[in-house]
Amino acid sequence: MPAQRNKTEDDITAEVLQRFAETPDPRLRQIMLGLIKHLHAFVKEVELTEAEWFQAIEILTAAGRMCSDKRQEFILFSDTLGASMVVDLITHPKPDGATESTVFGPFHRLGAPELPAGGNIAHLDKTGTPTLVSGRVLDLDGKPIKGALLDVWQAQSSGLYDSQDASLDGLHMRGKFRTDADGRYLVRTVRPVNYPIPSDGPVGRMLRATGRHPWRPAHIHFVVSAEGYEPVTTHIFDRTDEYLGSDAVFAVKDSLICDFVRHGGATSESARLGIEPPFLTAEFDFHLKPASAPGATVLDAQQRLAALGAAG
Ligand code: BEZ
Ligand code: FE
Repeated sequence: MPAQRNKTEDDITAEVLQRFAETPDPRLRQIMLGLIKHLHAFVKEVELTEAEWFQAIEILTAAGRMCSDKRQEFILFSDTLGASMVVDLITHPKPDGATESTVFGPFHRLGAPELPAGGNIAHLDKTGTPTLVSGRVLDLDGKPIKGALLDVWQAQSSGLYDSQDASLDGLHMRGKFRTDADGRYLVRTVRPVNYPIPSDGPVGRMLRATGRHPWRPAHIHFVVSAEGYEPVTTHIFDRTDEYLGSDAVFAVKDSLICDFVRHGGATSESARLGIEPPFLTAEFDFHLKPASAPGATVLDAQQRLAALGAAG
């Protein structure tokens, strides 16, 4: 008598689990068994129909087609489903005194120019309010870290990143800055604005169908790294933004909220840099913890994106 095969949904789950049970790599085994368990449980719980299953395949196909050297729809799905932030919190539990991380997002690009202190990343932005962002990069004891690298990127005052702006073909609103002997950095930019994440693809359809808005509170992105320290991928957020409590990608952490202070008149620094008032200043210190594994530079976030096909 041949063995009875795959008669119930639970029989199928058990058989699939069994097939993966001999996976040689223990971590891969754990991940695959967990994935099958939860995927099957989900399908059974919602009683997914064939039509809905096909719709899911169409959505994933559309997401894949949307991806290019300038667009990463899968990261956007992960971000808007909150998965990126759960991974972030598991990977980077809130460290004592170290700057908290947050989502990397899909808009980092390789090849940002290294600029001197006070260098302007917003030189083509004629409508934003000039803004000076400054502070120090420190270790957990408050000692300055000289030569730390800050990789900075931001949306233009139009709310678009350079890669979304058809009128630009190069990099804009991006720069790399090094700290001086006191750990100080100084970035010239324009006031960050809130903006909607790209909604012309399957992620946008999901947001509309579920009654969610696509807005992110105003922020500036940083990856801060230094030899011997763990790099941090993070943002600073404008304290006055109306979307701080409902970020489309769940990325706001209290410790990353910052005051952008308005100045109606010149200061010695604004005069030195040739900035006409009114302008804003924001101060934020980054605290890095010592690297746990030698050579572990997550900084290569950049390399991760390059591996996904991002433009240089
Ligand atoms: C961003 O801030 O650039 C971003 C992050 C997650 C999703 C979309 C945009
Ligand atoms: Fe952003």
